[in-house]
Amino acid sequence: MYSYRDDRIRNMKKRVLQGMRPTGRLHLGNYLGTAKGMLALQDDPQYDTYYMVADVHAITTPYSVKELGDKRREVLMDYLAIGLDPDKSALFFQSMVPEHAELAFYLSSVQNVARMNHLPTYKDKVRQYPENVTMALLNYPILMAADILLYKAAMVPVGLDQEPHMEVAREIARKMNDQYEMDFPEPQSLKAKGRYVPSLTGEGKMSKSVEGSYINLTDELDEIKKKLAGAPTDSGKGSDVPTEGGVANLLKFVELFQGVEKRGEYEKQYVNEGIRYGDLKQELAEAIDSELASIREKRKELEGKPEYVDKIIAEGAEKARMVARETMREVKEKMGLG
Ligand code: TRP
Repeated sequence: MYSYRDDRIRNMKKRVLQGMRPTGRLHLGNYLGTAKGMLALQDDPQYDTYYMVADVHAITTPYSVKELGDKRREVLMDYLAIGLDPDKSALFFQSMVPEHAELAFYLSSVQNVARMNHLPTYKDKVRQYPENVTMALLNYPILMAADILLYKAAMVPVGLDQEPHMEVAREIARKMNDQYEMDFPEPQSLKAKGRYVPSLTGEGKMSKSVEGSYINLTDELDEIKKKLAGAPTDSGKGSDVPTEGGVANLLKFVELFQGVEKRGEYEKQYVNEGIRYGDLKQELAEAIDSELASIREKRKELEGKPEYVDKIIAEGAEKARMVARETMREVKEKMGLG
């Protein structure tokens, strides 16, 4: 009979957990900032990877009941299209593993309300949705801590904006270890190379909520060109290469898609003869397009195989549940509820 314990002894790999909220299709920002890190960990034999769509987190702010089902599936199909491999990673929806919500309640017993009330991410959401300040919203970071601790994950590939939540997860891990003799690792954030992906508008980061700031993974060459055409530039030359704004962001994209040497060439041009942005944008659009082409193709293929996708999700959830049940059993026992 399969024994989770035996498997764990044989397989002392470090676990990785990551979740994305189901806000629709991935864009270049998620891809470079987070998904590339997820791919690297999946292919590293030191790690055992669990990648979920955080559909339970979606209900902490106003959402469309009708659309949630499609949206979570979109993210999962994008995971597959970018190369996440169901033979290596468990891919699933958070709501299919009820232990996430269960553990969140247990963890909430060691966390202080005042601390949660003061979290900057919570305050932002309160400002954004003043009519919807629910308990679920206040509990958002506890649920995220539960996501991570349920797998005793050591590593979490996340964007910089998630650091306050990661800190809460580490705090809760320490408290559970001190008060109940659990052995949760303090989860570390994995810093991917393209972690900060700038907006095409020249201000802030690439985000779904800012029109003109992002490129979708599905955008074809013409669309990418159009979006790059709208990115602000300057006269193309000067005594110092800009470190922020439109030009700095374009150079960052050059670095991410064409390499640092190419970026160096442009920097030299900037302080000498000048950059011709028309040419830069053309070449950059082609480089982005060639990286996205294989993703688009894979995605089309998956759209024709819905049963295959369903099967992957069901198997991913089952694999996740084996770990989740074991952690829950241990937590209940240590907390006197075993
Ligand atoms: N809060 C994360 C975000 O908004 C999503 C998330 C939920 C997550 N659970 C997680 C990320 C667990 C990493 C690990 O991006």
